[in-house]
Amino acid sequence: MNEVLRAIFERRSIRKYSAEPVKREDIETVLQAGLHAPTGADAEPWRFGVLADRKMIEDLDERARAAMRESGIERIAAMGANPKYRIFFGAPVVIMIYGERTLRKTGTHLSALADCSAAIQNMQLAAFSLGLGTCWIGLLRYLFATDRCMAPEGYDPLYGMTLGYSAGPEAVRPRTRREGTVTWF
Ligand SMILES: Cc1cc2nc3c(=O)[nH]c(=O)nc-3n(C[C@H](O)[C@H](O)[C@H](O)COP(=O)(O)O)c2cc1C
Repeated sequence: MNEVLRAIFERRSIRKYSAEPVKREDIETVLQAGLHAPTGADAEPWRFGVLADRKMIEDLDERARAAMRESGIERIAAMGANPKYRIFFGAPVVIMIYGERTLRKTGTHLSALADCSAAIQNMQLAAFSLGLGTCWIGLLRYLFATDRCMAPEGYDPLYGMTLGYSAGPEAVRPRTRREGTVTWF
């Protein structure tokens, strides 16, 4: 199996990180992989924010968990109230992904979410190929309702992505996929 297919088939979300720092060069490579994702009308409707400071990450984690507790959704509130839960799982790096609200090129907002998601997937696969773990963090949405999380003007915060070396066994969990989701016409 070639390296691209191996990354696609073997990448798993990592939810336990070692304290080992990630080399700046590797973070840059992961970001470049994100920047090379396809985008509608080639608009590149994104910005990326890199947090590599432990205190900043812990502060954001705390604010996100507080927002989860205030969400009014029982399951989410319970997660946010769990003293063992950390939204970023102790990762040494968090990449924030911001989507352009109204695309400069097309005057619509139709594809920023898709484009940013493609970038995240690229970053996840690139990180895997470098021996790094990632997790896509959508639960930040409860925080985004009241906190722009440093999004630049004209952009909305969409997702976060953790980055770091895995400290857990999750990476080798076997994966199963649902049957019956493909139709050949
Ligand atoms: C849009 C999106 C949002 C996600 N948000 C979270 C999240 O907030 N926290 C988390 O632990 N995992 C999150 N995940 C990871 C999924 O739970 C994970 O990809 C899925 O369970 C499949 O596992 P795998 O990534 O190991 O293949 C998210 C994934 C996607 C695509």
